[in-house]
Amino acid sequence: MAYTPSPDRYGKMIYNRCGKSGVKLPAISLGLWHNFGSVDDFETARSIIRRAFDRGITHFDLANNYGPAPGTAEENFGNIVKKDFTGNLRDELIISTKAGYHMWPGPYGEWGSRKYLLSSLDQSLKRMQLDYVDIFYSHRPDPETPLEETMTALDTAVRSGKALYAGISNYRAPEARRAIEILNHLGTPCLIHQPKYSMFERWVEDGLLHILEEFGVGCIPFSPLAQGLLTDRYLKGIPEGSRASKAHGFLKAAEITEERIEQIRQLNEIAKKRNQSLAQMALIWLLKDKRITTVLIGASSVQQLDNNIDCLDNLILNDSELAQIEKILKKSPKVLS
Ligand SMILES: NC(=O)c1ccc[n+]([C@@H]2O[C@H](COP(=O)([O-])OP(=O)(O)OC[C@H]3O[C@@H](n4cnc5c(N)ncnc54)[C@H](OP(=O)(O)O)[C@@H]3O)[C@@H](O)[C@H]2O)c1
Repeated sequence: MAYTPSPDRYGKMIYNRCGKSGVKLPAISLGLWHNFGSVDDFETARSIIRRAFDRGITHFDLANNYGPAPGTAEENFGNIVKKDFTGNLRDELIISTKAGYHMWPGPYGEWGSRKYLLSSLDQSLKRMQLDYVDIFYSHRPDPETPLEETMTALDTAVRSGKALYAGISNYRAPEARRAIEILNHLGTPCLIHQPKYSMFERWVEDGLLHILEEFGVGCIPFSPLAQGLLTDRYLKGIPEGSRASKAHGFLKAAEITEERIEQIRQLNEIAKKRNQSLAQMALIWLLKDKRITTVLIGASSVQQLDNNIDCLDNLILNDSELAQIEKILKKSPKVLS
């Protein structure tokens, strides 16, 4: 069926400025790491993207290797954009992709060389049938390639018009600072940093967020629901079709320990008292920090997506709730997701 975007799509979403840049991102962004590959149902994927856009999500996050099979999330997304986002709708989208993890055989198929990054961007554009992406990321720091080379490749991507902005992902505080400084020097400021951040994974609080604020760089935490752990999904075991049940899912059943479930149960009780789902509470817990531009969720259904976006109806956590959450999180199990 032909798609006509909702005329109300900009009515309710919150848009936050990304660092000190000119661009605003929706408070909730959608990532295509899982659920959008060749192993997944195309029409479900398409309905999630349509619904996201109808509710004001303008930012879609990809990477060269998303699938499985690697590359197929970009292919599927490109087909959806071509079919559904016709006319000038491309101009209403912020599409990101990344290169850094293994994508093709040989010494030029991963990490941070200029050779790999720029070839990969060309491949991504072909797969998505796009002329440009909005954000191109170095997906992870490369311990062997000079940071100057990786950052210069991002600068080239932007200057060539194949990307509008540069981003970095998974860079720890000291290397993030250096990367941002190099990009500033090159005249292509770093738009955004994409770290893993959730109630269960808090390393960004030890310096990174401070650096991003200092340099006016946005922050888009990935896996804000700890891949589904910070929801009610696993409270009664591992349901069929869930990420932890799938051979290709990155959430491993071994991570769902009794200790972890007990913590989730306690967090869920606080969420219930707030008339929120645990997923919603986990998202607003991140959004309470003004240094967070947008949270980058995943979803395997329209229902999950809707539930997550509805977190914006109740954004305030009071001091007592924050203290209770902190107390539960302090009892962190040793194995983190
Ligand atoms: N830069 C990087 O290195 C990196 C790494 C990882 C991810 N990312 C990005 O971050 C995005 C999000 O990562 P993620 O998918 O791990 O995020 P997430 O939001 O932490 O987890 C998403 C999963 O949680 C479950 N879920 C979502 N909403 C729910 C709800 N309301 N109720 C119950 N369950 C719910 C679903 O699991 P089920 O599938 O079981 O239903 C969904 O697939 C990725 O798509 C990607 O764009 C980047």
